Amino acid sequence: MSAKLPPHLTTKMNGPPKFEVGLKPIAIENWLFPDDQNHWLEGKGKLLSLKTDDVYASLGDTEEIQAELAQLVCAAANQEITNGEPLLIGASRLVSDDLIIMDKRDGVWTLVAATLCAPTFFNAQYAIGKSLSLLHDPIPSGDFDLSGRIARVFDNFAPDMVLERFNWTVQWCDERYTPNGAKLREAAQNAQLNEAPNMLYERVERQTIRKLPKTGAVVFTIRIRLSKLSDLLQNKDEYIAFENAWKNAPQNVREYKKWATLERHVTHLLEIMR
Ligand code: HEM
Repeated sequence: MSAKLPPHLTTKMNGPPKFEVGLKPIAIENWLFPDDQNHWLEGKGKLLSLKTDDVYASLGDTEEIQAELAQLVCAAANQEITNGEPLLIGASRLVSDDLIIMDKRDGVWTLVAATLCAPTFFNAQYAIGKSLSLLHDPIPSGDFDLSGRIARVFDNFAPDMVLERFNWTVQWCDERYTPNGAKLREAAQNAQLNEAPNMLYERVERQTIRKLPKTGAVVFTIRIRLSKLSDLLQNKDEYIAFENAWKNAPQNVREYKKWATLERHVTHLLEIMR
């Protein structure tokens, strides 16, 4: 099971990335803990306090769902929420994960509330109120009906079950709060080759979903792990898996992830670490 593997080995060992559902059940006790990224809690807390409107959004009628989710998070964290802010924000302070609530509105799974402090190139104000298919619109998955499949998972899965999936990309620098990927790509394009060992990071997303038994809403969690690529590549297995995944990723995946902007630095790093 993935929880036993070091975080950076959980994704690429299965080969190059592809667009797939890829959800696997995990033990309910491992939903949010152990929280291997809890060093992010301080930075995340600052964002929640100082940039609240950038990192939190909610439709008007989500108090009951927020309360149900907060109860589960507090139980998992063995902590309480004592201040008077929205419960989703309070719950979000207890875990490194971003917390996203999907609810079925007019028959459509819709993002009704979220904290997004470590978003992989989108933000809470963009996402609020969007359906699963609008959120996944930018993904060139062809005939594969990704959003339809996710909706069927949401419809049918039982409370007390937690599903987990991973995805990963490479990014320039170790920022977690990245609502906009263009700035990072521009920095990479202006950088010298010898900056590659210090500036290239692997960004892994660990995502989970869980259904809330009372309200029937679905909680989607996202935890970001950033690892310096040059550190990872010192491990021979990691080097082989990464090189294979990077070089053999399908063209539509490479384009979607905009890897061309990092190509010369990644190629350089692979060469000097071979
Ligand atoms: C658990 C069910 C879900 C599955 C299987 C899934 C699948 C995917 C896949 C395959 C991608 C392309 C990158 C990757 O490989 O991850 C993606 C991207 C994305 N997903 Fe999901 N997703 C799920 C749930 C959600 C939910 C609930 C949200 C709500 C925020 C969401 C928001 C996004 C966004 C914003 C992107 C990036 C789109 C872009 O590039 O602009 N996903 N998802």
